[in-house]
Amino acid sequence: MRKPIIAGNWKMYKSVKESVKFAKQLNEKFKGIQDREIVIAPTFIATASVIDALSFSNIQVATQDAHWENEGAFTSQISPVSLQELGVKFVILGHSEKRQYDNETDARVNRKLKNVLRNGLKAIVCVGETLQERESGKMEKVISAQVNGCFEGIGLSDLINIVIAYEPVWAIGTGKNATPEQANEVHAFIRALIAKKYNKEAAEALRIQYGGSVKPENIKQLMAQPDIDGALVGGASLKVDSFEALVKF
Ligand code: 13P
Repeated sequence: MRKPIIAGNWKMYKSVKESVKFAKQLNEKFKGIQDREIVIAPTFIATASVIDALSFSNIQVATQDAHWENEGAFTSQISPVSLQELGVKFVILGHSEKRQYDNETDARVNRKLKNVLRNGLKAIVCVGETLQERESGKMEKVISAQVNGCFEGIGLSDLINIVIAYEPVWAIGTGKNATPEQANEVHAFIRALIAKKYNKEAAEALRIQYGGSVKPENIKQLMAQPDIDGALVGGASLKVDSFEALVKF
């Protein structure tokens, strides 16, 4: 059985003060929930304050990136050493917005993933095709290349600390979500890729989240699909009521 994992990616929304206030509100709502994992990814600058506000909470804090080195001459970058020190549990890697605006590549995601794991953190690795790629029949090719590139040299024993998020780029922030069946089809495809690269048990144990216009109105149908194990949510994770409904789907 794969434990459901619902994560809120706050992107560049909410100031530090707003983030702390919001995290405290969520903490009240989610007390005692143990049958699913709850993750929030505030902006980098709010990370420490949010973790402080959530001491002894079942909400785990993620960041939206981390560097592939622990230290060095990398102006503006964030070391996973500090994230581990603060109590961060997950790092989101390869988000399509990083790929689009910061030229993130699979090779870089792969280096970051290795360093995140070396530092005892878990990762949410994002993959997903654009509309043009889907419409030209390249979805499977694109997803395979992303999974193979991001997982190059990642050992079988590391898989337990990795979640994959399938986020079709055309469904992010557009209100156009993949149908539950469309999403499940790609999740099953990703699981088969992992089975081929590693083995069947590892693939069965791996959690795959769906992301892209997930809302309280569609979470139930998505989560009812056999290969959908959670959600990575942007917009609908930014309000208490809607994130509560998503977590308590
Ligand atoms: P939306 O839920 O706003 O479509 O964003 C999805 C996403 O990018 C989560 O990482």
